[in-house]
Amino acid sequence: MRVGVLTGGGDCPGLNAVIRGIVRKGVQEYGYGFVGFRDGWRGPLENYTVRLDIPAVRGILPRGGTILGSSRTNPLKQEDGIRRIKENLAEQEVEALIVIGGEDTLGVAAELSDHHGVPCVGVPKTIDNDLSATDYTFGFDTAVNIATEAIDRLHTTAESHMRVLVCEVMGRHAGWIALHSGLAGGANVILIPEQRFDVEQVCAWVTSRFRASYAPIVVVAEGAMPKDGDVVLKDGSQDSFGHVRLSGVGEWLAKEIERRTGKEARTTVLGHVQRGGTPSAFDRWLATRFGLHAIDAVRDGDFGQMVALRGTDIVRVPIAEATARLKTVDPRLYEEVGVFFG
Ligand code: F6P
Repeated sequence: MRVGVLTGGGDCPGLNAVIRGIVRKGVQEYGYGFVGFRDGWRGPLENYTVRLDIPAVRGILPRGGTILGSSRTNPLKQEDGIRRIKENLAEQEVEALIVIGGEDTLGVAAELSDHHGVPCVGVPKTIDNDLSATDYTFGFDTAVNIATEAIDRLHTTAESHMRVLVCEVMGRHAGWIALHSGLAGGANVILIPEQRFDVEQVCAWVTSRFRASYAPIVVVAEGAMPKDGDVVLKDGSQDSFGHVRLSGVGEWLAKEIERRTGKEARTTVLGHVQRGGTPSAFDRWLATRFGLHAIDAVRDGDFGQMVALRGTDIVRVPIAEATARLKTVDPRLYEEVGVFFG
């Protein structure tokens, strides 16, 4: 059997660990051959391939990014996309495709597998941890560790200068990174996309923190919105996935805090640093296990399924179930951390 592998969407620490797990087990235990498709769905669309064998995966476990490259290409939005993919898979003699990606990439896999006879197995990937049907996605732990270290470092400048330091982390639709890193880093305010925030309330927390002779750290997810701030924070344009482009909630918030409290405020936007570099031990462990279980699903002919973490077990769930809706932060969980605000 010849198996195709692709990685789509934003890069994520642990992608190479998944690829290594798939290839090592597939070659050694099942005698499969592999072909790597370059740059996400662009690979099978344009028949753009790369050699994928044991030597190709040697030494990649601790490496960030993806040896296969990635893109946000969506073949369902291209004329003849499905036909071209089917033709190219046939030309490559690929009998199964392992798709490693987030909501968009896996959404394509669900459509192709369920409605067009393309046998896909999914592996959930995103630093945002917002994919349903799995307790965790790999990449999230690394991103949280990077953000937590940054917040730890921001505390010293905040205290030395008695400033407000606003730290903007990733998370367009879900506040998992903000919630986990904010709690781990001892933030005084955490703002997430799931709960619109009141700027006056944020300023009250900031002021009360100063009154206790401490300098406040505000962690804000890039998708967090003030109650009446749509006009300020959305520039109206959309990316190719229909996501509204955000324009710097962190910067905006620091200015508002300065204006309303008279305290000096600065912003740090962590951006792609959160996705870069070597994966944490947990992410290597999770990604490797996902890879091993994905190739088992191929062996079992269990297509249209995604591997997922439930507790400590890896299970299989329909890809369509995982992509049907995003997993957002439960309001009760958010309320729980509220005790530290102010
Ligand atoms: O989905 C992962 C993610 O890193 C989000 O947290 C972020 O909003 C988005 O991707 C950024 O995408 P890009 O790198 O394409 O700007």
